[in-house]
Parts: sequence; structure tokens; C-alpha cells
Amino acid sequence: MKETSVLCLLFLISLLSCTTNQARLTVSPSSSQFFEGDFVSLSCEEDDSSAGWTLRRNTSRDTRAECEEWGKPAGSSCNITGFHKSDSGVYWCESREGPISNMVSLTVTGGSVILQSPVLPVMEGDDVTLLCKTKTTPSNLPAAFYKDGSLIRKQPTGHMTIQHVSRSDEGLYKCDISGHGESPSSWITVTVINTSTSGEQGLDKEVDDVTPEHHRAVMN
Ligand SMILES: *[C@@H]1O[C@H](CO)[C@@H](O)[C@H](O)[C@H]1NC(C)=O
Ligand SMILES: *[C@@H]1O[C@H](CO)[C@@H](O)[C@H](O)[C@H]1NC(C)=O
Ligand SMILES: *[C@@H]1O[C@H](CO)[C@@H](O)[C@H](O)[C@H]1NC(C)=O
Repeated sequence: MKETSVLCLLFLISLLSCTTNQARLTVSPSSSQFFEGDFVSLSCEEDDSSAGWTLRRNTSRDTRAECEEWGKPAGSSCNITGFHKSDSGVYWCESREGPISNMVSLTVTGGSVILQSPVLPVMEGDDVTLLCKTKTTPSNLPAAFYKDGSLIRKQPTGHMTIQHVSRSDEGLYKCDISGHGESPSSWITVTVINTSTSGEQGLDKEVDDVTPEHHRAVMN
């Protein structure tokens, strides 16, 4: 009985250290859509800097390609000056030992409208603001917002706030500005925090939430 508890405790500790030892990929400016020519900086934020994380990507042009092949390495960051349509794809950080960070799907459009939506999963209960932007007009124009292909709202100022997001708000979003065109589509992922589960189940949940299917859907 006592031994089982100790084993359980050890198991939990190892699970926790696996999670805290992960890198997190962040994107600056924080958006999942960009115009051609935009500057983007990607960073592997790591808890354990000795792990040696490498930033990689999959695009229609390259597979598991490192920053050196497509950007300018700067410590644990990678800068891209002049984002191109062919830079659209899935980006992630990977350590030599194998574990990977969250994956981030970035879309670069040759068109003139983008949807600025959260690049990382949003927490259930948070407010999320989506911004529909044109390349050429500095002020915000009226925009229509779509979720999974259906019109959800028309907003005179080009932004839309979803209050207290829940799992049902998860989906593929895009926007449209009359006379300028339509943005690409991006997934919004909602992370559900279940306070009634034990820590162990909570960790499993976090791992399950990194679903590559979502990112692939955007690329196809
Ligand atoms: C990247 O592409 C390779 C080869 O197609 C695939 O095995 C891998 O799962 C992809 N990684 C991601 C994160 O999509
Ligand atoms: C990369 O971008 C960051 C943020 O703009 C900047 O501080 C840094 O100097 C850049 N590094 C290189 C090597 O371009
Ligand atoms: C939270 O976890 C409990 C136990 O695993 C489950 O019964 C319940 O449905 C979960 N609630 C939500 C909102 O996911």
C-alpha cells in the first residue's frame, strides 16, 4: 500500500517534470496570419536552456527544415524578414531528446485581407478579440466574420470580441471586407480547464490538446 503511494508520487513527479521541461513557441507579432513582406520573429521559450531546442517547420516546400534554412537565427529566436506565401506552414521547437513544443500554424497570404486571431490556444472563459485587417487601409473597415463557413457577425469597426469562450467556439474562422476580399482561414483552439479532475488527468488533457489535425486542416 505504502509502496504504491510512493510509486504514484514518483510517477506524478516525472509527469510534471516532463511538462515543465517543455519549450513554448511564441510568435511576434502575435498572429496566425500575415501579409507577404511582413517581419516575423519566432522564439523557443524554454524552461531548461541546456536542452538545446531547434526551431523547425513543415511547409509545402520543406520538411522539418531548421531556422538556418529559411530565417535568421538569433539565440533561441528566428527572424524572418519578408514573409512569403511559401512560408505558410506548421512551426515548432524540438529538442535533441525528441520532445516537441506546441505547434503553430502560420498562413501568409498574397491577398489584401488577414484575420488576426490568437496564435496559441485560448483558455476557456477568456475573451478573444479577432481583428480583420487590410494591407492598404490604415483604419479599420467594416468586416464580416465567419465560423466554419457560416456568417456569425458583421462589425462596423473590423473587430469582434467573443466573450467567455467555451469549447463550442472552437473552429475555423475567417473574415471578409467588402471591396477588399476575404482572409485565409485559421483555427481557434480552446483549452478547457477541468478543475474537478486530478493533476494527472489535467496533464493528459494538455498533451491531447496539441492536435496536428487542426494545423493540417489549415494547410490543406
Ligand atoms: C512534418 O512532416 C513530416 C513528413 O511529412 C511528418 O512526418 C511530420 O509529422 C510533420 N510534422 C508536423 C509537426 O506536422
Ligand atoms: C530579431 O528580432 C528581434 C525582435 O525584433 C530583434 O530584437 C533582434 O535583434 C533580431 N535579431 C536578428 C539577428 O535579426
Ligand atoms: C471534468 O472531469 C470529470 C471527471 O473526469 C468529468 O466527469 C467531467 O465531465 C469533466 N467536465 C468537463 C466540463 O469536461
